[in-house]
Amino acid sequence: MTTKSIAELLSEDIILQDVTVNGWVRTFRANRFIALNDGSTINNIQCVVDFENFDEALLKRITTGAALQIKGELVESQGKGQSVEIQVKELEVLGDSDPETYPIQPKKHTFEFLRENAHLRTRTNTFSAVMRLRSALSFAIHKYFTENGFYNMHTPIITGSDAEGAGEMFRVSTLDAKKPPLTEDGEVNYKEDFFGKETNLTVSGQLEAETYAMSLGKVYTFGPTFRAENSNTSRHLAEFWMIEPEVAFMDLAGNMDLAEDFLKSVLGYVLENNKEDLEFLDKRLQDAEKSLPQAERSPMNLIEKIKFVVDNNFKRVSYTEAIDILRNSKPNKKKKFKYIIEEWGADLQSEHERYLVEKHFKCPVILFDYPANIKAFYMRLNEDGKTVRAMDILFPGIGEMVGGSQREERLDVLKEKMKALDIPEEELWWYLDLRKYGTAVHSGFGLGFERLVMFATGMNNIRDVIPYPRTPQNAEF
Ligand code: 4AD
Ligand code: MG
Repeated sequence: MTTKSIAELLSEDIILQDVTVNGWVRTFRANRFIALNDGSTINNIQCVVDFENFDEALLKRITTGAALQIKGELVESQGKGQSVEIQVKELEVLGDSDPETYPIQPKKHTFEFLRENAHLRTRTNTFSAVMRLRSALSFAIHKYFTENGFYNMHTPIITGSDAEGAGEMFRVSTLDAKKPPLTEDGEVNYKEDFFGKETNLTVSGQLEAETYAMSLGKVYTFGPTFRAENSNTSRHLAEFWMIEPEVAFMDLAGNMDLAEDFLKSVLGYVLENNKEDLEFLDKRLQDAEKSLPQAERSPMNLIEKIKFVVDNNFKRVSYTEAIDILRNSKPNKKKKFKYIIEEWGADLQSEHERYLVEKHFKCPVILFDYPANIKAFYMRLNEDGKTVRAMDILFPGIGEMVGGSQREERLDVLKEKMKALDIPEEELWWYLDLRKYGTAVHSGFGLGFERLVMFATGMNNIRDVIPYPRTPQNAEF
């Protein structure tokens, strides 16, 4: 008798065999039908108990959430909706679950409630499906880069530099925050800190990835990044995972091609390999929309949206073209944008990004050649002297999915830029060395992993696609 996962059992064509299965009770109906789930698939296996053969005291312990080991015979199912079921011969309660206090009852719970029970929420269909898809996307990402000649590199979590120059960093320090050692001038003396200097959690592995691209050619990072942005939105986390490829001898056009091909490939992977979970989430969203008037329902369902991205070219538009479009548009008949773009050079707000993607082009958009003054210091200045070779990829329902650029490879131009922004050369001497020794055109981008998972699962809040979300005032688990 072998122990098998429920996913394996449901795909078996050999029936009438003895099997052992472990899992958690979802429901127990009529003292007879146990719906058991072990996380291997969205589907439960039905285990049929002949209650006359079992102790009443034992049957009472079969409650939602309890862990069971079941031995029995796999037979063709008489019931609807499943091909096979188990005729239970032996049953052991491995772990009881008190129905009075167990939070995850077989009914609809709100996502807010489930967030407060993040340690148990993957026992629901929605969250188990989301987290299986998250895992599959992670695999697809490593698969894509490995198959395309990239090396995976691990960049430091604790760093001494601010890669984005935005100052949104979490400090890392062993100093007593209340009574730090002071210099003669009364400033905090970081020389006495663990590393002998100020350090922080990384906001991006890009700068280190650039150093490896300039020797290994094609590299990528996939790791946690930290931002102390005070934006309490449904699209921002203080701790999120970022994928950052970096490629030597590749320009901005190549960067756009890479990002588009990459996104299509990883989304195509889950379409092919995660059908059951996607179909479940798709149906969930359609059911939720049933109460809305027809006009407010999404024109495409979840799987259609993913297929659309996989099958159609992204629209490539320069910042300057986008600004012209926005100046001549109204988001709807009466309303204007909340924030009116008065002049060239203003940063786009998310309402503008969403308008371009959802109303105007109705497909993913790659915006490129942004004004230099709204982008990071390391981006390659264009010949016009005022735009940089930056690109953002905007997705329907998500907004910014990817941010990337061709990097400034000219030592003198980079130094000038850093000077203008007060970035000390001593802090980034190693970064400048890349421009001194064998400099070359190179490019890369960063993809926010959770935003990709949001798109692939149709979840609306970024807190629901990462196991333990870190947001302002929230680090409960
Ligand atoms: O646009 P960002 O800030 O770009 C960089 O960090 C570059 N160093 C990347 C590179 O070129 N290697 O961030 C990249 C992406 C964004 O497009 C967004 O998807 C995601 O990271 N992101 C966040 N995701 C969740 N929560 C946040 N607070 C995020 N900030 C950025
Ligand atoms: Mg960005």
